[in-house]
Amino acid sequence: MLDQVLRTPFTDLVGVPHPVVQTGMGWVSGPRLVSGTANAGGLGILASATMTYEELERAILDVQSRTDQPFGVNLRADAGDAGERCDLLIKHGVKVASFALAPKAELVRKLKDHGLVVMPSIGAAKHAVKVAGWGADAVMIQGGEGGGHTGPVPTTLLLPTVLDALRDAGSDIPVVAAGGFFDGRGLAAALSYGAAAVGMGTRFLLTQDSAVPDSVKRLYLGTDLTGTVVTAKVDGMPHRMLRTPFVEEVEETSALRRLGPTLRRTRQFKRDSGTGWLRLARDGRAMRKAQGRSLAQMTLAANTPTLLKAGLVEGDTRAGILASGQVVGLIDDLPTCEELVDRIVLGAVDELRRASAYVV
Ligand SMILES: Cc1cc2nc3c(=O)[nH]c(=O)nc-3n(C[C@H](O)[C@H](O)[C@H](O)COP(=O)(O)O)c2cc1C
Repeated sequence: MLDQVLRTPFTDLVGVPHPVVQTGMGWVSGPRLVSGTANAGGLGILASATMTYEELERAILDVQSRTDQPFGVNLRADAGDAGERCDLLIKHGVKVASFALAPKAELVRKLKDHGLVVMPSIGAAKHAVKVAGWGADAVMIQGGEGGGHTGPVPTTLLLPTVLDALRDAGSDIPVVAAGGFFDGRGLAAALSYGAAAVGMGTRFLLTQDSAVPDSVKRLYLGTDLTGTVVTAKVDGMPHRMLRTPFVEEVEETSALRRLGPTLRRTRQFKRDSGTGWLRLARDGRAMRKAQGRSLAQMTLAANTPTLLKAGLVEGDTRAGILASGQVVGLIDDLPTCEELVDRIVLGAVDELRRASAYVV
């Protein structure tokens, strides 16, 4: 592992040497990728939304058998068993709790009381201010160019908006910038904006340590800058993914014709994830309440993990959907996590030195 070359409020908070986060990606951020990142000196985050409770516990223990460095777990704040999963993180001494969507204030308090670092992902400045008020230790923002569920505002505009809003609210919690990062220039730029680290999904998916099948990695590597699309037709929320023939078909098919295949895949997800119908319905109702989704959208939402699994785990590039950031168009190699983290932080140091020479 490279010695620390950049010290930021984030590296101090989390106890990792490098201000680089491998974000939680469903079906992708497993023990090998997370421990590979941790052993390279970055913060690796396990994705748990696609795991059963038992699988999550096994995955945590697996990471701990591969590294003694800090790591995190990404949780769905609106999942019915979010509380039990938080207890699991506490039980096993996980360092960071990362949340897709804002967690409840009581959950933040409980995790903090047990010494965890709480880092929700947010897509708007007002949410950053809200979770900072509840005691979140850091926030991760994801700009619109990022992979997976994403918002309409690009990182270059969302990041300063969030930083300004937090400053105006009197908060100086570290902000991790995600969406579109892949190299040292990006890290240098994010630090110059005032972020304390970068988070990367697509870039870490395309490493030797990621367990995504090679055929699928090759498809990503062959995609150019215009090869992704944001669609809400798959699960009712804007979701950035590769523009595959399957996605183009979904974009063109009516909701009614999608219903049959959707229900079949929902049944399969229920089997794979061990999620009972009651829990699925409860999660669906919570999503509906939180995001005002229709019944058809809820069914589609339950369907998404199976579609992602078909591509990212089973390598079926025709049947599956493949979440990806636009940055995929700038990536053309498969380094190890260590090679990647080293070159990003060393590259950022060079860029920061080069740019500071402009100061007269
Ligand atoms: C394949 C894939 C799966 C993802 N799954 C999740 C997830 O389960 N939870 C989550 O909070 N974010 C998820 N994301 C978003 C990433 O964590 C991250 O915010 C995003 O990839 C950053 O943008 P980038 O791809 O440009 O680096 C996913 C992204 C990708 C590419």
